Amino acid sequence: MKTIVVFYSRTNNTKLVANIISKMLKCDIEEIIDTRNREGFFGYIRAGYESTFKKLTVIKKTKYNSSKYDLVIIGTPVWAGLSSPVRTYLSKNKNLKKVAFFCTMGGSGDKRTFRQMEGLSKKPLATLTLTERELKTVDYQNKIKTFVDTIN
Ligand SMILES: Cc1cc2nc3c(=O)[nH]c(=O)nc-3n(C[C@H](O)[C@H](O)[C@H](O)COP(=O)(O)O)c2cc1C
Repeated sequence: MKTIVVFYSRTNNTKLVANIISKMLKCDIEEIIDTRNREGFFGYIRAGYESTFKKLTVIKKTKYNSSKYDLVIIGTPVWAGLSSPVRTYLSKNKNLKKVAFFCTMGGSGDKRTFRQMEGLSKKPLATLTLTERELKTVDYQNKIKTFVDTIN
């Protein structure tokens, strides 16, 4: 099965998970590059505003063509729901064949985020949530391995 991991990450938590998944699966990886400045207080507030009001942002042209893949594994940070860069990606990449979702978060909001992702694509084969606290423990990689085994 031709697989790609596609993710957005503002502060590298989701990136960490994305890299591990793509290494485990030896598959392509695509980082969604947002053109808006997300730094500092105003960057944070704007991010929250865009996700709350389901706004799109402007992302750079992607390297890989999602229609060439049997499975697209999509990762996002929870921003009180789906992050605007991943919302934008999913809006531009309709008709994905199979999908799986993962997210990182402070403590809650994954269910809503996955629901929003499903609304823009389809039912995922599996989902994975990692909290910031879990990412500091030694066995978060086992959780990633279980997710990968489910979809592989
Ligand atoms: C605008 C914004 C809203 C957020 N909302 C939530 C939230 O509702 N629930 C939560 O648990 N964490 C929330 N977070 C924390 C992030 O989900 C968490 O830090 C995540 O791991 C960041 O991923 P990243 O490093 O890949 O950007 C929010 C972060 C931002 C910037």
